[in-house]
Amino acid sequence: MAGPDTPPESGTGTAANSLSARDRRNVLHPYTNLRAHETAGPLVIARGEGVRVFDDEGRAYIEAMAGLWCCSLGFSESRLGAAAAAQMSTLPFYHLFGGKSHKPAIELAERLIDMAPAPFARVLFANSGSEAVDSAVKLAWYANNALGRPKKKKIIARKRAYHGVTIAAASLTNLPVNQTAFDLPLSPMLQTSCPHFYREGRPGESEEAFAERLARELDELIKAEGADTIAAVIAEPVMGAGGVIVPPATYFDHLQKVTLKHDIWLIADEVICGFGRTGNMFGSETYGIKPDMMVLAKALSAGYAPISALLVSGPIYEALADKSAEIGSFGHGFTYSAHPLPAAVALETLRIYEERDIVAQVQCVMGHFQARLKAFQDHPLVGEARGIGLIGAIELVADKATKAPFTPPGRAGALVARASQEKGLIHRAMGDSLAFSPPLVISEAEIDEIFDRFAAALEAATPLIAEN
Ligand SMILES: Cc1ncc(COP(=O)(O)O)c(C=O)c1O
Repeated sequence: MAGPDTPPESGTGTAANSLSARDRRNVLHPYTNLRAHETAGPLVIARGEGVRVFDDEGRAYIEAMAGLWCCSLGFSESRLGAAAAAQMSTLPFYHLFGGKSHKPAIELAERLIDMAPAPFARVLFANSGSEAVDSAVKLAWYANNALGRPKKKKIIARKRAYHGVTIAAASLTNLPVNQTAFDLPLSPMLQTSCPHFYREGRPGESEEAFAERLARELDELIKAEGADTIAAVIAEPVMGAGGVIVPPATYFDHLQKVTLKHDIWLIADEVICGFGRTGNMFGSETYGIKPDMMVLAKALSAGYAPISALLVSGPIYEALADKSAEIGSFGHGFTYSAHPLPAAVALETLRIYEERDIVAQVQCVMGHFQARLKAFQDHPLVGEARGIGLIGAIELVADKATKAPFTPPGRAGALVARASQEKGLIHRAMGDSLAFSPPLVISEAEIDEIFDRFAAALEAATPLIAEN
């Protein structure tokens, strides 16, 4: 254990007190093979500048994931640090319990309601995407109790969805790694089809017919379960961690007809898509979604401070308010709901988005990004290169003609991601789909650097993939 007599850090080498050794002794890493990490050790990132980060030995990496889809303004936006410092010296903490409030919370809620793609009545703040998704589930349950619909509690998520890791959120995250060995999902959660035409489309089926079929399947699921037992459908406009799944253009039109018909709320999980990623301010605008609740996080504060938000519609708010009046209090919220520091950072982030017209910036470079990404479609190892706006993925396959995946899954993706890292490029392998989600402030020249390095990494990894 690190103690007061621990010598100062000494690089990532093998010395007993290097950062690497101390990490391996003390840190439990999310989304990491913990046993393998004991010998492999970490990549220690020391600082960031623009779209690049630098490790503790000074090597530079172009960050093609914006961290975890979050650092929309890159890694050195000084205005956000200044906003945090100013807030810390004015009011370092206050909460919203029992009717207390503060200016950053008030202004941020107002701003989010103003800019949202649908009419919302109130904003609940939390600290992470997962907490906001869990909150959406709890609020759906609470509101349906208030509305005298105590059976209307099931939540439907799509296969391969990612909604976070807290217990309700992980029950909606339909990826085996998030549920296996965690005794999840919880029973009120249901699954419907994933809108991935490349993998799920049937021979001869058009993309439009595929979208219609998925809506029919949802309709049938709802009828089989009973619409009176289903509270909500939750959906990411573009599915992120499940492999960057871009839905057919009309998919959400069809899906929303079904949810509206059955009086089922639609929760848009905009944790990745929110704030410009898909080429509009919200993914809901890109796909014409009119959600009843909307979850925001990540780029809400450009990733500089932990904060998330759940926006709720007027009818849901009215139900919550009625029930809280009956019970005496609305029994939900976090110590750090709208902590003043991240709230101030988020407000400054939104000011920057407006001043610099972040959506126009994305629209200016996204054509180039998509062209470079989709050029990999011709590569013999690539099954599908897909994306929209400034998000995309390249899916590797063992057989391009049959779309046969690699076995074991994920190995080829990991080899390419490792080769990329050696070439100074960080992106993310999600199984054998390699994701790209760069800072929104990226230039065309930097986009070229990403894909030039990726091409070199793919070439370097090809013989290793063949061997494995
Ligand atoms: C769509 C989506 N929802 C929810 C989450 C969970 O957010 P967090 O990791 O902040 O809990 C994520 C995280 O990547 C996400 O991509």
